[in-house]
Amino acid sequence: MAILMDGKALAEQRRAELKNAVEAYKSTAQRTPCLNVVLVGEDSASELYVKNKIKMAEVVGIQSKVERLHAECAQEDVLQRVDALNEDPCVDGILVQLPLPKAINADKVIAQIAADKDVDGLTPVSLGNLIRGIDGVRPCTPRGILTLLDHYEIALEGKEVVIVGRSSLVGKPMALMLLERDATVKVCHSRTQDLAEVVGEADLLICAIGQPEFIRPEWLKKGVSVVDVGITKTPKGWVGDVCAEGIREKVSAWTPVPGGVGPMTVISLLENTLELAAHKK
Ligand code: GUN
Repeated sequence: MAILMDGKALAEQRRAELKNAVEAYKSTAQRTPCLNVVLVGEDSASELYVKNKIKMAEVVGIQSKVERLHAECAQEDVLQRVDALNEDPCVDGILVQLPLPKAINADKVIAQIAADKDVDGLTPVSLGNLIRGIDGVRPCTPRGILTLLDHYEIALEGKEVVIVGRSSLVGKPMALMLLERDATVKVCHSRTQDLAEVVGEADLLICAIGQPEFIRPEWLKKGVSVVDVGITKTPKGWVGDVCAEGIREKVSAWTPVPGGVGPMTVISLLENTLELAAHKK
């Protein structure tokens, strides 16, 4: 029987544990951990993601705040806002919601976030630590995926892992984090030749391309585990990067869309926030 890797249920369980850890932190430190989100513009998907992050922060007892900036604001305005949060001793974690409007250089903005407040693990310092295998904040979606895989006891050591998608948010950090766990990792992208063949070699397949139902079940090796990060609204509802029809017969474990990776990203963000607060001197 194929295992459904239920991110929604696991995130709920971890929220209860995190709530206790936040309570313990509050009574020892005599302060409340605080997450600040910077949201530029009115992208509807980003609005929804941020709303969910704020709601879940409240559930676990983490204070949160959204700083909104106009879509046409100057890059300097965003940098100044980040600077102000860097300086604010009440702020433990800063998250600049991506994507940013095209006129703003996202790399510059992310690099401006103080390393000790980088709750997303996306600054050059955090990613440098990841490459060197030094402890530090890890990006939320890859962290959430590892938590999910560990919970369902999906073996990683020595396994053939294929990642489809090479983004800085998911694909690249995921590859590094799986190398840390002794997996053999291949990262595929739009120029990969014979994608179906490469995907067919995977013991574990992780897809993060945002292209609805791009990966066909017939490409998969029997017994593969599949993690689907993609989520796209289509006329027939929310779908992932992997066509879910007939997948159960092929896989040994898979994540649903929605209710798989998404809730795990949010719980990782909150875990990162508490860890940053706890490391404060
Ligand atoms: N946009 C979609 N996912 C994420 C994320 O994990 N962090 C940030 N900053 N933006 C996102």
